[in-house]
Amino acid sequence: MTKHPEPDGPANHDENRRTFLKQSSLFTALALVPGTVVEAAAAKLDERVADAFEKVPLSLKINGVKHKVTVEPRATLLDFLREQLHLTGTKKGCDYGQCGACTVHVDGQRVNSCLSFAVMHDGQEITTIEGLADGDKLHPMQAAFVKHDGFQCGYCTPGQIMSAVACVREGRAGSEGEIREYMSGNICRCGAYANIVAAIQDVKDGGQKV
Ligand code: FES
Ligand code: FES
Repeated sequence: MTKHPEPDGPANHDENRRTFLKQSSLFTALALVPGTVVEAAAAKLDERVADAFEKVPLSLKINGVKHKVTVEPRATLLDFLREQLHLTGTKKGCDYGQCGACTVHVDGQRVNSCLSFAVMHDGQEITTIEGLADGDKLHPMQAAFVKHDGFQCGYCTPGQIMSAVACVREGRAGSEGEIREYMSGNICRCGAYANIVAAIQDVKDGGQKV
């Protein structure tokens, strides 16, 4: 049988009134607390939250350089690269695995770094866009993107190039259709798709080592 709520009688009125007065007093008291005290309390709370996510040791190679670091278990590979190592070439677009802006290579395989926790990559080798060029010499795919105007604003470009390299390496650049299919996880809001495909075809046809 359906249970109906209690009627809003005098007893409930008194209880509601008491609750309201208690809350009002609390808000008044908070308003009188100096801002510095509130800030100190907030900082203490932040510390406690940070302690709750105790960092774990991690050893990995990034762009050929070995790193021994500690990282919060909740940190994504993307945030770890950008915020802890300051490798900001890898971009955060959607942060939900839908745009490809965060693409990096893990042991040679392309990965959306926003969908992967850093702690999952202990002992692995990561390559970001910063690791592609050979000193001042651009990677062939970077040079091809420049040659074919494969970008406009450039925000998606690091992810596009990392995917494009994987596309050729994996032998998935056999035709325009195959390239478009492989690259479909990398969104370009500027619509530079035709130029991106041309750059990939150029590298593939040139037979350059990627
Ligand atoms: S930021 Fe990772 S897929 Fe969009
Ligand atoms: S070049 Fe602007 S989003 Fe791709």
